[in-house]
Amino acid sequence: MVSAPFALERPTVTVLGCGYVGVTTAVVLANCGYNVYAIEPMPVRLDILKTGKSFFYEAGVDPLIANALKHGTLVFTNSYEASVPNSSIIFSCVGTPDYEDGSSDLTYVFEAAQHAAKLVKPGAIFVQKSTVPVGTGAQVEQVFAKANAEVRYVSNPEFLAESSAIRDTLWFDRIVTGSEDRKAAQAILDLYKIVEEHADDVGKIAGLQPPTHLPKPHYINTARNSAELIKVSANAFLALKITFANSIAKLADKSDADITEVMQAVGADRRIGSAFLNAGRGYGGGCFPKDVSGLIRTAEDFGVNMEIMHAMVELNASMPHYIIEKVALALNSPTLQDKKVAILGLAFKAGTSDSRRSPAVVMANTLAEQGTVVTAYDPQAALEAKHELHDAVHLAHSLDEAVQSTDVVFVATDWPEFIHMDIIKLAKLSGAKLFVDCMNRFDRDKFAGTTLKYIGVGRN
Ligand code: UDX
Repeated sequence: MVSAPFALERPTVTVLGCGYVGVTTAVVLANCGYNVYAIEPMPVRLDILKTGKSFFYEAGVDPLIANALKHGTLVFTNSYEASVPNSSIIFSCVGTPDYEDGSSDLTYVFEAAQHAAKLVKPGAIFVQKSTVPVGTGAQVEQVFAKANAEVRYVSNPEFLAESSAIRDTLWFDRIVTGSEDRKAAQAILDLYKIVEEHADDVGKIAGLQPPTHLPKPHYINTARNSAELIKVSANAFLALKITFANSIAKLADKSDADITEVMQAVGADRRIGSAFLNAGRGYGGGCFPKDVSGLIRTAEDFGVNMEIMHAMVELNASMPHYIIEKVALALNSPTLQDKKVAILGLAFKAGTSDSRRSPAVVMANTLAEQGTVVTAYDPQAALEAKHELHDAVHLAHSLDEAVQSTDVVFVATDWPEFIHMDIIKLAKLSGAKLFVDCMNRFDRDKFAGTTLKYIGVGRN
């Protein structure tokens, strides 16, 4: 925590919405000495936050909440009245869920702006961190104009990933602001320079080590609409990289190549880069699927057909089924009916309790629907996944319980607990014939000499 006198010079900040982005933003700023109000309307969430911990699992968040509450720099509240009028900067981090047709539901975005417009002090900066379709900022500015609120609007897309949210916020690659008001944009860029300055100290409180190699971050100001488009384009491009790897993986399976070797060498070209080329059961989560479908719909509104995105969505959705078909073929059992399987991992990725649009859940449900006996286990996401799972999926309390007496063990999420498990012990305990590495995280040699046959994705 920076010293108190420093804190007094800092503007007061309100964060609207306590999801992943809102909580992370609030706790990092509060630990950099800003006085922060974080608004959460849901009583269940607010009550948990007030006790000094988060309602979701994310490394480093709880110690930062506890420290900021202890030092009085963070107040969780449901009151706009108690926070917005006192604040010079307001970050809008409300949820932007999607409708069935893929378009973004911006109800919370406009509600937050309307509510803030009534209370905001003249000259305050309203920062949009929620992911919104290009053109939304212009409409939000209209909300303020209609309410005669003198607000300076800055788009500031968020690039943090779940499971590394605090890391990404402290040790960032780039900050993007989008505003025609240069001074307001600069004020927000300056706020992040303070975060950069205090990153290592705040990291210590969070129990996180700074990265060993940290290039200087980029501070980029663009036009408002460009900033909105940057966010979804970055996510769509990362999703494309994964999907490209998955498409080559299908060919690798047929042609006796190993996708991990292929992508390692492809990614060694600096122009391409090795990140997000890990083939497997496809991408999920609260961002990629939603941002991609939102991009497709927004483009349609502008009369642009995103053919490449359509192909990506289809290919990504095919991956869990592709893996199940490989297993059916290996066991010579077209429907896998009456087989017993363990699904290890339900979260959409390791390090989070989030199971939204998780390919692991799709696999568990698809198998259960076709009559396979499914036992699933996840160290953090079981509770969140429960309501999305087919009634026939049994939830185990431990890895050992999940794998006992099964025909197939699927590792669907790459939790360290699974990656480091003892394969010999697993083979004995499960009696399984097949081990399915849905994220290509295991060394195949480990399975030699065991009764388990290894199946990866693009690694025949
Ligand atoms: C993503 C972006 O990374 C982040 O910058 C943005 O702000 C929000 O969306 P997130 O959804 O939290 O973050 O997770 P990410 O690590 O990007 O993973 C997304 C999905 O892709 C996961 O299901 C993951 O398992 C999968 N993935 C990722 C792959 O299948 N292969 C890869 O090589 C990388």
